[in-house]
Amino acid sequence: MAEKLADAVARRRTFAIISHPDAGKTTLTEKLLLFGGAIQLAGEVKAKKNRVQTRSDWMNIERERGISVVTSVMTFEYGDHVFNLLDTPGHEDFADDTYRTLTAVDSAIMVIDAAKGIEPRTLKLFEVCRLRDIPIVTFVNKMDRESRDPFEILDEIEEKLALDTAPVTWPIGRAKSFSGTYNLANSTMRRSDNDVEPLAVNGPQSDAVAGLLPEHERDVLVEEMMLAQEACRPFDLQAFREGHLTPVYFGSALRNYGVRDLIEALGAYGPPPRAQEADSRRVQATEEKMTSFVFKIQANMDPNHRDRIAFVRVCSGRLERGMKAKLVRTGKPISLSAPQFFFAKSRITADEAFAGDVVGIPNHGTLRIGDTLTEGEELLFRGVPNFAPEILRRVRLGDAMKAKKLKEALQQMAEEGVVQLFTPEDGSPAIVGVVGALQLDVLKERLKNEYALPVEFEMARFSVCRWISSDQKGEVDRFIAAHRGDIARDLDDDPVFLAQHEFGLKYEADRWKAITFTAVKDYQ
Ligand code: G4P
Repeated sequence: MAEKLADAVARRRTFAIISHPDAGKTTLTEKLLLFGGAIQLAGEVKAKKNRVQTRSDWMNIERERGISVVTSVMTFEYGDHVFNLLDTPGHEDFADDTYRTLTAVDSAIMVIDAAKGIEPRTLKLFEVCRLRDIPIVTFVNKMDRESRDPFEILDEIEEKLALDTAPVTWPIGRAKSFSGTYNLANSTMRRSDNDVEPLAVNGPQSDAVAGLLPEHERDVLVEEMMLAQEACRPFDLQAFREGHLTPVYFGSALRNYGVRDLIEALGAYGPPPRAQEADSRRVQATEEKMTSFVFKIQANMDPNHRDRIAFVRVCSGRLERGMKAKLVRTGKPISLSAPQFFFAKSRITADEAFAGDVVGIPNHGTLRIGDTLTEGEELLFRGVPNFAPEILRRVRLGDAMKAKKLKEALQQMAEEGVVQLFTPEDGSPAIVGVVGALQLDVLKERLKNEYALPVEFEMARFSVCRWISSDQKGEVDRFIAAHRGDIARDLDDDPVFLAQHEFGLKYEADRWKAITFTAVKDYQ
C-alpha cells in the first residue's frame, strides 16, 4: 500500500559525512550500512535487482589512484527512519562535486579523529555547511586509540568552528580501556554496538559503568563523567536545527562503539526534508506535487552500457515510476520510466520516491546539473553552485578532423560537471576549466576511452575566470565590447571575463565599478 506522503517525508533523513581523509569516513559508512541492513529495504520496495557491481569499478582512474572520484548515494533503514547517505569524493581536487552534493542534504555528520581534532579539510567542509545552515552531528572517532582529552576536543570545536557543543555521550575509558559510551542526557550506556538497546544505569558511579574501568583509572574517569554531566551545555534541538550547536558523540567505527548512538541521534534530532527555496516561492516537502533538482551527473556507472545517470533530490511530493515530469529549463516533458535507488553495491528500480529521497534518472544527455523537474509548475531551484575554475587550459587535439567530435564530447563533459567549458567570443579554440588538477586527468582519460580522442592540454593565456553581471542596463555589453579578446561564454551562454592574473582582474574591477565579478554562479 502506498505510504502516506506526510509520514514518508517525516521518516526521511538525508545526510552526508564530512571529514578530513583518514578520520574514518569509509569505516563509519560501512558500519552504518551494516547496522541499517541496506539489503532489507531493497526487498520492501518490490523491485527488480540489478546486477551487483562494486562502486570502485566505475573508473580505472579511481582504482589506480585509490581515491573515490564519484559521488553516490546509499539508502538504508534504521529504526523508524529511512536514511539517504550522500557520499562525496575524498580528494579535494573534486571539491566542487562535494559542494554540489552538500546542496542536496538536510544534515551532516562531521567525523573527527580523536587524536588529531579539527583538520583543514573538515574545517573547509564545515564552512560550506555553515553557509547553508546545515545542522551537524559530531562523531569523535578512534577513541580506542591514544586520543586527546574529550574536554580539549570540545574546546577545539567551539574555538575553531565557532560552534557550540553539547556532548550527548561520553567515552567510558580511553584507548586500551575504552569500553563503551555513557549517555549524559538520559543515563543509559552501551558497552558496544552489539547492545542494540541502551541499558539504563544509575549514573557514572554505578557498577555497570565504573565496573568497566580499570581500577587505576576508575576514580578520575568517573569524576570526569560526572563533571561532564553537570557542567557541559545540554543539547538544544532548536540551536542544533539552526546550525548553532552540534551534539557530540564519541566512539570507534572500527571497533563498533558509538555508531548506534550516532545513527539514533540522526533519526531523533536530524531534520526531515527541508523546505526548498525556488526562484518564485518556497516549496514545502509535504506538498503533493513532485518537484526535484539535479545535483550530480554520473556517466558510465554500468560499464556495459554507456549510460548517464542524473542524481535527483526530490524536494516535494512523490516521484513515481512512469510519471511525466516537466524539465523547466527547456519546457519539455521527460518521462521518468526507470528511476533508481542505490544501495551499497547494487541499484534497483524505484517504484516511488518521496521528498528527501535521491534517485538516479538514466538519460542520454537530456538532464544537466542544476535542472529542475516539476509536474508542470514553472519554478527553478537555485543554489547548486558552479565555482570559478582555478586551472584553465586549451585542449589540443592531434587530429584536426575530429574537432567537431571533440566539441560535442567537451559539451557533454561540461554538462556532467566534469569540467567547465568556455567558448571565447573571438572564435579561438575552447577553454576548459577545473577546480583541481585531477579533474583534467579524468577528462583526458574519458576522452580517450569513451570518445577515442587522445588529447593534450596547453596552458591558456589566462589563469583567472569570473562571471560578469551588472544592475545597470547596457554595462555588460559595453564591458564585453571593450574586452572582446578576454570574454568567453559558459555552457548557459553567460559571459565570463578571463584575466591573465589576479592583478588584471583587480585592475578591471577598479575601473568598471558597475560590473560585478563573481567566483560562484548558481546553476540555472
Ligand atoms: P577515510 O574514509 O576517512 O579516509 O578513513 P577510513 O575509514 O579509510 O579510515 C582510515 C584508517 O583509520 C583505516 O586504517 C581505518 O581502519 C582506521 N580507522 C577507522 N576508524 C577507526 C577507529 O575507530 N579506530 C582505529 N583504531 N582505527 C580506525 P588503515 O590502516 O589506513 O586502513 P585499513 O588497511 O585498515 O583499511
